[in-house]
Amino acid sequence: MRTQVGIVGAGPAGLMLSHLLHLLGIESIVIENRSREYCEARIRAGLIEQWACDLLRETGVGARMQQEGIYHEGIKLRFGGALHRIDFKQLVGKGVTIYGQQEIVKDLIAARLSAGTQILFEVEDVTVHDLDGKKPKIRFTHAGKEDEIGCDFIGGCDGFHGICRPSIPDGVLTAYDRDYPFGWLGILSESPPPDDELIYCYHERGFALYTMRSPALARLYFQCAPDTDIENWSDKRIWEELHLRLGGARKLAEGKILQKGITPMRSFVTEPMQHGRLFLAGDSAHIVPPTGAKGMNLAFADVRVLSRAIGEFYRTAKSEPLDRYSETVLPRVWKAQRFSWWMTQLLHRFPHESAFDRRRQLAELDYLATSRAAATTLAENYTGLPMA
Ligand code: FAD
Ligand code: DHB
Repeated sequence: MRTQVGIVGAGPAGLMLSHLLHLLGIESIVIENRSREYCEARIRAGLIEQWACDLLRETGVGARMQQEGIYHEGIKLRFGGALHRIDFKQLVGKGVTIYGQQEIVKDLIAARLSAGTQILFEVEDVTVHDLDGKKPKIRFTHAGKEDEIGCDFIGGCDGFHGICRPSIPDGVLTAYDRDYPFGWLGILSESPPPDDELIYCYHERGFALYTMRSPALARLYFQCAPDTDIENWSDKRIWEELHLRLGGARKLAEGKILQKGITPMRSFVTEPMQHGRLFLAGDSAHIVPPTGAKGMNLAFADVRVLSRAIGEFYRTAKSEPLDRYSETVLPRVWKAQRFSWWMTQLLHRFPHESAFDRRRQLAELDYLATSRAAATTLAENYTGLPMA
């Protein structure tokens, strides 16, 4: 098989890269080691920055998001026994949209397939080769047969546990990372969310977040120990914890739990995000803790730059934008890292924190609730920094 860009991974990064390339008249093939059903059912992100919503709409894959997504003009912070609203619209004139990542994945897969792009699901034994030359290759097994894609460029969009990043020779990449001493237990529940806006709760039992997927579907998370075994959390115990951490600020309706899982928390960046003709995008190059909801948005920001650089290469034969890909995207990556770390350290309990640390967190929350300058910084980052 031959194509212009071979893409490993059919998550938000890989599918959006293929979509944007298609709009530039550039061919790609996407390979994915999971089934289509699995990719379309994988429950993850839910919050889309305003520029990313515009991108989905402007590139023709935003129709269902426009219909079913829920636009939010603010969030609520709960601390010190009260709710405090941060009004994004008033502060920065922007908002965010709640629309499940798996719905975006469904919309992108449908668009790719209807445009005739090949997505090969359930591939195995994926390896990448000849990254330093002009004709890199992807080898894999599909439907029991060994196969190869010859291409001009490889999009390494295979997430944090993928094979692309580890295929780059030793000594090329520098990793910057931080682990957090907690995780999130998350559920999707067939019940109305407690508020029509997201509530971020600072609580002595630990952080909790009350978000949603629709007026009848709540998405609820709370901070837990990093080695938590989900089997030890009965539905009854989960609801008790969620009630306690919401602290009576709103009534929390219980419902059937449709999905539950534990998310580890990590900050990670690799520099550079490229080697030869392999370009990493999304979680394969960086991971943020979920507080602040930056992961999928960053994946879209990466592939927007990458698709344009590849487009420039085919249009003008200039490789300079591609050579500068890492340099171009890393400033945004690091600002999202900083923001995600900041939200995380502000709202969570840490094992070795002191009484001083708790007082400092409360002072910062109070500052956010009472200072327009502080709230504007939060609003500007949360709704998405401007795209170049
Ligand atoms: P992935 O979604 O991981 O996609 C990679 C794809 O590659 C997968 O389909 C995988 O199966 C495939 N793959 C892996 N290895 C191989 C291989 N060897 N061969 C072929 N295919 C392979 N982000 C936000 O922006 N907003 C949020 O609200 C938000 N909330 C989150 C809440 C939770 C609980 C979690 C876990 C994450 C959240 N995120 C959020 C982060 C977001 O989900 C990720 O950043 C996003 O999925 C990254 O997309 P990606 O395409 O880079 O990687
Ligand atoms: C969601 C997840 C987040 O991590 C966040 O900060 C906001 C919303 C969500 O899944 O809806």
